[in-house]
Order: sequence, then C-alpha cells, then structure tokens
Amino acid sequence: MIEFEHVSKHYGNTVALDDVSFTVPDGTVSVLIGPSGCGKSTSLRLVNRLLEPNDGYVRVDGTPVREFPPQILRRGIGYVIQSVGLLPHMTVEENIGLVPKLLGCDKRDRSRRAGELLELIGLSPDEYRNKYPIQLSGGEAQRVGVARALAANPPILLMDEPFGAVDPLNRETLQQEFISIQRKLRKTVIFVTHDLDEAVRVADRIVLMRDGNVVQTGAPEEILGAPANDFVREFVGSDRALKRLARFIVGDFMIDAPSVDRGAHLDWNRYRDFEVVYVTDDHRHLLGAVPRDGRAAMSSAEDAMDDALVGAVSFGSTLRDALAEILNTELAETPVVDEHGHLVGRITMAEIYSATPRRIV
Ligand SMILES: Nc1ncnc2c1ncn2[C@@H]1O[C@H](COP(=O)(O)OP(=O)(O)OP(=O)(O)O)[C@@H](O)[C@H]1O
Ligand SMILES: [Mg+2]
Repeated sequence: MIEFEHVSKHYGNTVALDDVSFTVPDGTVSVLIGPSGCGKSTSLRLVNRLLEPNDGYVRVDGTPVREFPPQILRRGIGYVIQSVGLLPHMTVEENIGLVPKLLGCDKRDRSRRAGELLELIGLSPDEYRNKYPIQLSGGEAQRVGVARALAANPPILLMDEPFGAVDPLNRETLQQEFISIQRKLRKTVIFVTHDLDEAVRVADRIVLMRDGNVVQTGAPEEILGAPANDFVREFVGSDRALKRLARFIVGDFMIDAPSVDRGAHLDWNRYRDFEVVYVTDDHRHLLGAVPRDGRAAMSSAEDAMDDALVGAVSFGSTLRDALAEILNTELAETPVVDEHGHLVGRITMAEIYSATPRRIV
C-alpha cells in the first residue's frame, strides 16, 4: 500500500503539492490525472525519494519512505518514464538486466529473466534480446521500458506517462497489454497520464488533481457518473456518460439470445417477444440473424438470414463497444459471442441504459 498523508512540496516559491492525501491499495492501479503542472510527476518522485516532501508523509506499507535508504527503497519500486531512458550502448537484454545485475544476479539468470519478460510484454526474445534501443520503434522501446521496470520483480510500479509518446493505435494495444500483465502480476501501481480514456481503461481508482490539490478520487465510473464540481465536470467532458460505458464488460450485462438451428424452420410464434432471432450451426457458432420482417416464411432459418446483420461483440468487450456495434447495424441490439464465435447472449439498448445512472449530473 502507498499512502500520501497531508503531503506538501514546494520548489522555491512554486507550490507543486499542497496538502495532498490519497491511498493506493495493494495490487491496484491508481491513475493520477490532471492539467499540466498540477503535480503528478512530483508525486511519483516523492515515492521513490527522487524528491523529499516539505511536509507530510509518503508511506509504503505503513513505513515513511524517508526511513528507507533510497537504494533499498528503489529495489522494490519499478519506474517507467515517458522518454523510456534505455541506455543506448546496451542491448535490450542488458537494459532489462540492469537492476538484477546491481542485485548480484548472474548472467545466465539475467538472460533467462530477460527472456521471460520479453515474452510477457509480447516481444520475441530471440528477435529482440540483442537489439540496441535505436533499432526499436517507439512502442517497442516503451515495452522494453516496462520490462526493465519489472525485472527485479518489484511490488510497486511508478509509471509517468508511460505510453505518452506512442501513436493512438499502438497506445491502445500497450494499454491492453498492460491491463493483462497487471491482471497476472497484481503490482501496486501509480500511473500518470493526461489521457482520460487511458485513465478510464487502466485505473482501479482515479486521483484527479489540479494546481497541487486532489479534487476528486474514486473509481472511474464514480467520477464520470458524479463529478464533484464544475472543474471535474468540464475535465471529464460532456461525453462522460459514453466514456463511462467503457467501464462495463458485455459479459456482465448480456441477456439470453433467442436462437434457431440453421436447418430448422423459423416459427415466429415461438419468438413472439423478439425482434430478431439468431441462426447458429450444430456447435452454436453464430451464423447470422433473422429480423422479424416476414421473410421467415422461407424453408429454413439459414435461407431467411439477412447477410447484413452478422456483426457481433465479444463477451469481454465493453458496453461502449456494444453501443457502437448497435449503432452500426439496423437492429436495436447486438449478439454476443465467445472467443470461438459461439453465440452466448445479446445486448440491447435496455442493458446499456441499465448501466447508466438515471441522472448523470
Ligand atoms: N525542478 C523544479 N523546479 C521548479 N519548479 C518545478 C520543478 N519541477 C516541477 N516544478 C513545478 O512544479 C509544478 C508541478 O510540476 P510537475 O512536474 O509535478 O507537474 P505534472 O503534473 O507532472 O505536469 P505535466 O503534466 O506537464 O507533466 C509545476 O508548476 C512545475 O512548474
Ligand atoms: Mg509530469
């Protein structure tokens, strides 16, 4: 656990942090977000003692960080920065092995660990371990930066705009990878970003800052659903209800989907309450959909199927994806499939509304 307790930090006359308190529970990701200069990077540097506070305490597992010698403290803290900071004259493997080497880990173990971490971050060890930083794309360098921070298996990770320099598409991939790595490793993470969509994706909790103060903390869906004041409301934007849908997983909201075997005759009398019936094969693979429009008089469900209506979302995607899919089709709903393409349910506008507070203030 990381705790900020009434922390203030000045640089000369500049007040960078003014009585800041927040807590990052073990194994969770807290995202610091707010306008430029609000004190995000300063907060991170207080955790690994690159800076000392003027007032208050920063604690790790209950102990004020100033009671740890900086070198000992930093062994337990991985630090990822926007400019990555890979050493140009060292290979990827040597960069990743930097801290393990300081800890006395021998070459064979460092090499094995680098291989494991490259696998984890989605780079082929054989292809990448002997490359130099200059031979990497921005996204690959960011991945190696994350691998290096994880090398000594620290319980805490500090990430200062780790994906800031990457284009939007690659950034989303890196975010997904980070989320799946975090699901496995359960580090205690402080993650700094400017990008609210990124915060909504990766955060368990958001700490929204302004001018050295914490303005609101909470789960992203709480902050988007109930902004504490006009500043937060403006910061999260008028599309906050839409952004909030990205916090909810389709599999948690889907309802049963009416389905019929491809070879069967579709008898609408059995499906009175439905506007659409889904067609599947023997293995429940989704083949298509038949809307209620009279074509069901045809001999088999497969003949009645409308080719234009085959879109679907996966059960692990978000309600925001489901809404986008619904708006893309002529139906007022979308089928949900598992990773094998089996029909597992459907999402209608009613499920989307059910995840939205009645009154978003
Ligand atoms: N070394 C320094 N000397 C003097 N002032 C500093 C120093 N570092 C930061 N500041 C000031 O402290 C305040 C907080 O800076 P900090 O770097 O923590 O902001 P930030 O939230 O990380 O901003 P950004 O989003 O632009 O990275 C700013 O007003 C900044 O100008
Ligand atoms: Mg910063």
